[in-house]
Amino acid sequence: MRQSRLWTAAVTVAATTTLVVSGVILATSAEADNQPSKAALAIARQTLAPNDGWASSGTGTTGGSAADDAHISVVHDRAELVAALGGNNATNGSNATPKIIFVSGGIQGNVDDADTPLTCADYADPAYSFDAFLATYDPAVWGRATKPSGPLEDARAHAAAAGVPNVTFALGDVYALDYPDGAFDIVHAHQVLQHLGDPVAALREMLRVCAPDGVVAARDADYAAMTWYPADPRLDRWLTVYRAVAHGNGAEPDAGRRMLAWANAAGAAEVTASASVWCYATPEERAWWGGMWADRILTSAITAQAIEGDHSDEAELQAISAAWRSWSAQDDGWFAIMHGEVLCRP
Ligand SMILES: C[S@@+](CC[C@H](N)C(=O)[O-])C[C@H]1O[C@@H](n2cnc3c(N)ncnc32)[C@H](O)[C@@H]1O
Repeated sequence: MRQSRLWTAAVTVAATTTLVVSGVILATSAEADNQPSKAALAIARQTLAPNDGWASSGTGTTGGSAADDAHISVVHDRAELVAALGGNNATNGSNATPKIIFVSGGIQGNVDDADTPLTCADYADPAYSFDAFLATYDPAVWGRATKPSGPLEDARAHAAAAGVPNVTFALGDVYALDYPDGAFDIVHAHQVLQHLGDPVAALREMLRVCAPDGVVAARDADYAAMTWYPADPRLDRWLTVYRAVAHGNGAEPDAGRRMLAWANAAGAAEVTASASVWCYATPEERAWWGGMWADRILTSAITAQAIEGDHSDEAELQAISAAWRSWSAQDDGWFAIMHGEVLCRP
């Protein structure tokens, strides 16, 4: 004869959806496994008067005292408990029928309907792949010392800090965008076409992924139209060297003036061309722009390309860098960047 502990659980009705465990009865007979004793039932039908302790604070507690015979049960596992509560866990919480449910033994909640224990895998999102996660972040692949880094991580962190959860960043090649035709309402490229060997092909691809009533927007600088003060022959050489390096890469640094022509050549419709100017004239602006070029001319890919392409030499690049620092420090220093722009449709 198995000894079992008999827990009484009286289910509250109507006003709340809380399951209240109201007491414990020890029973020693097998009959207790399927049918509550009269003593147990008498206790289960008891009610609490208003304010008779914490559980009956306010209007009192009736629990399942009014349960009819069909709603008095003894349950042994999770499936029986779910059935006794009304049969459907999605609605059991609001099932207002008075019930008295005795729990015989212990019930495992973390099981399926056949009482088989569940594991983490049973709770995983179907879209989540543990194998893919491990493959990406396996220390043998990613390393142990390096935090996630690079343009995508920067972009993710920036978006998170800005509280913008609806932005997705992806790396891609503007010549072959990995999106279907007409996928976007706005397709924008800023100071990109001026670096490309085939800006017309890039615009054609941007037009392809733009919706018929969408907008392609592009803006690029025009190096030959840049101007500044005071004059410095070393800065003239900077412009000559930069344009030679860009042309040597097959790109067109004087892009701004060509934007309309490129959009037309790409077959764009409703093309609107415009121009705008950036101006660096405050100490902070001069420090940023002049300091950036003072470093860039000595430490970027431009440096090697200028020397290897025979457009300059190390001594001249040092002089150009010094000229940028000198320009930055002058109260009269002024620099304007001309841009060309287009708005158009596929
Ligand atoms: C001068 S930066 C402009 C960056 C940014 N749009 C801005 O305005 O600050 C030029 C950008 O063109 C991108 N670029 C160059 N070739 C590209 C290509 N084939 N496809 C996509 N982007 C390209 C570079 O990665 C670089 O980020």
